Formats: sequence, C-alpha cells, structure tokens
Amino acid sequence: KTTYQIALIPGDGIGPEIVAEAVKVLKQIERTESVQFEFSEVYAGGIAIDKFGEPLPDNTLTTARLADAVLLGAVGGPKWDQNPSHLRPEKALLGLRKELGLYSNLRPVTLISGMEARSTLKAEVLSGVDLIVVRELTGGIYFGEKKREKTAQGEFASDLLIYHEHEIERIVHQAFSIAQNRKKHLTSVDKANVLESSRFWREIVERIAPEYPDVQVNHMLVDNCAMQLLLRPSSFDVIVTENMFGDILSDEAAMLTGSIGLLPSASLGEGTKGMYEPVHGSAPDIAGKGIANPAATILSAALLLRHSLGMETAAQKIESAVQKVLSQVRTADLAAENEESVSTQEFGDRVVAALSK
Ligand code: NAD
Ligand code: IPM
Ligand code: MN
Repeated sequence: KTTYQIALIPGDGIGPEIVAEAVKVLKQIERTESVQFEFSEVYAGGIAIDKFGEPLPDNTLTTARLADAVLLGAVGGPKWDQNPSHLRPEKALLGLRKELGLYSNLRPVTLISGMEARSTLKAEVLSGVDLIVVRELTGGIYFGEKKREKTAQGEFASDLLIYHEHEIERIVHQAFSIAQNRKKHLTSVDKANVLESSRFWREIVERIAPEYPDVQVNHMLVDNCAMQLLLRPSSFDVIVTENMFGDILSDEAAMLTGSIGLLPSASLGEGTKGMYEPVHGSAPDIAGKGIANPAATILSAALLLRHSLGMETAAQKIESAVQKVLSQVRTADLAAENEESVSTQEFGDRVVAALSK
C-alpha cells in the first residue's frame, strides 16, 4: 500500500462539519484501494487566531508543506470581521496559497442530473452546461500592495492590481492545456477596455495561442461574461481569468448547478501538491446545525485523489457516489419547500454506503 500524508484544515463555521464527511469518504477509499492516508489535522483561520493569536501558525504551514495534499474546509466568520488585516482568518487562506505556490485554481462547474430544478435558471438554459473556471490564485489585487493613509486631503485606501508576465504566462498555458483535453474552447476574461493589467493579460494570451492551434480562443470583458453566464452558460468550456474576477464569476457559476454547496475546487502549482477546498465559505448562518451540504468538500476530496495522487478511478467512484446519493436524498440547501432533507452526517454516510456497494 502506498501511504500518503494528507493535511486537514477544517477551519471555521461549517468547515469542521463538512471536512469530517470528506474524511469518512477517504477512509472508505482506503478500504477498497491500495492506499493508506495519514491525516494530520491542523488549525488555520479564526480558530487559529483564538488558539494561537495568528491565522496561519508555522506548524500549520509546515504540515501543509510536508503533506502530499491539503484538504481545507473554510475559514472566516463574523467574530473576526473587525480584526485588522494581519489578524483576519482569510489571511490564512491567502498565505497557504502563496506559500505553497498554488497559482492555479480549478473550479469545475458540472451539472448533476436531477438538480436542474434547484437552479434559479430554467432547465433549457442549463442544458449542456459543463464548464471550468481557471482562476489565477496568487497574484493580482489580492496580493498587491495595500495602503491606508491619512493625508492633508483626507484618508485614502488602495489595493494594487499587479501582474508579472510569468504569472500570466503560466496560468494561460495551464488553461490552454486544460482546454485541449476538453471541448477545445477557451474564453479569456478581462477588463481590457479599462485596465492596463488586462491589456497585458490579453496580449499574453494572444502570444501564447499559436502554441495551441487546436484550441479556439476568444476574449470577453468581465461584465459581459457575468451576463453571458446567465444567458448562454452552455456556450462556455474553459474560462481563464485573474484572481478577483475568477472569485466572483465562480460563485455566480455555482448557481447553475443548484447550490454553492456542490462546487469543489483544486488549487495547484508546479508539482503534484495541491490544496482542495469547496468554493463556498464558512457559512456562519448555518454553522453548528448539522445541515450544511458536504458534497462540495467530498467532491474536493475526489479532485485531491485525481490531481495529487493520480487516482482517477477512485475519484470517479466518489463523483458517481455523490451523484447517486443526490438522486435519492438532498441536504437543506437543495430541498424544495416542504421537501424532506438529510443532515450533513447522513449525507456523508450515504456516500460511504454508495461507495461500498
Ligand atoms: P458563504 O459561501 O460562506 O455563504 C453564502 C451562503 O451560502 C450562505 O447563505 C450559506 O449558508 C450558503 N452556503 C455556503 N456553503 C453551503 C453549504 N455547504 N451548504 C449549504 N449552504 C451553504 O459566503 P459568505 O457568507 O459571504 O462568507 C462567510 C465567511 O466565509 C466569510 O468570513 C468569508 O470570508 C468566508 N469565506 C471563506 C472561504 C474559504 O475559506 N475558502 C470562501 C468564501 C468565503
Ligand atoms: C474563495 C474565497 C476567498 C477568496 C476568500 C475567503 C479570501 O472567497 O476561496 O473563493 O476570495 O479567494
Ligand atoms: Mn470566493
């Protein structure tokens, strides 16, 4: 049996509840495949601020560095919202991404049959939707210099949106090669009519495109893209975009699937090491109630098997099991009014049961 080190970072809010279900599923995989997982649970986010006075303790970063892959729940919550920027839970997430060199965030948006009625869009609009957002994750306005100053003219605040050539090149190459293995259609999203960084981005996409002659590439302004995602979502295949646009567009795209509780993500760098987390946050409004949908986290564990451990078959087994369970029961976020729903734990148990059949 091959042994893999998995760092677990449950985080805040619903994080611990949903990570527990994904761990159950990985333990079931251990029973049927020739792998063994050594889980190390470490703290990040608000809980780490409370326990250790910092959002990303050294031990957490070291454990994540040494692991083959990281599975994260979510961080953040109202308790820490007034904290100064270095003491915010979100800082942990940004630190992990940056320190581990995870510049590429893959957010696949796949329809699960039977869920169409839960989307706010009409079934005919959703038909054929299968897209992936490739979000640049360690650059742009998230990481540029931040300022807050008082001047004679009054106070100001600023966030610098900066991209270096190599940061754009590597994510664009990755998006092209993902497109080559899909429907060969790449949409690069920017705001080139206003932003210099976007014009730079567009130039680089144009320069790289001839290296992937089988991929059809088009450019779209981000405001139009936000609209097209609701108008004709099935016209997209691969969307590549900078950090903040990707954050916003992927939450929007989540609603095509019926719930943000269904959307997994993989954050990758140069090697096989990756960090896997649901696209959604810590959902403080439902934390501790046992009603969060763990599907996005379980599907993130499937991405972990696929991208970090090369276990494609096991990844597909989990994806089918989640689909099967969703055809039978729903968590509260997916249940129609007056429809019965299952708890977070029961959903996880059912995925385990579906896997063991
Ligand atoms: P959110 O994604 O946490 O919640 C938005 C809405 O979706 C809420 O109504 C919530 O109940 C619902 N929801 C989210 N996940 C769900 C699930 N699995 N099952 C059922 N319902 C679910 O976004 P928010 O409320 O804007 O942010 C809350 C906190 O989470 C903030 O502190 C934010 O910074 C943080 N956040 C963290 C991450 C992360 O750790 N990766 C991502 C996004 C937001
Ligand atoms: C996400 C989250 C994070 C982001 C926040 C919590 C820093 O919204 O992973 O989508 O904006 O990247
Ligand atoms: Mn987000």
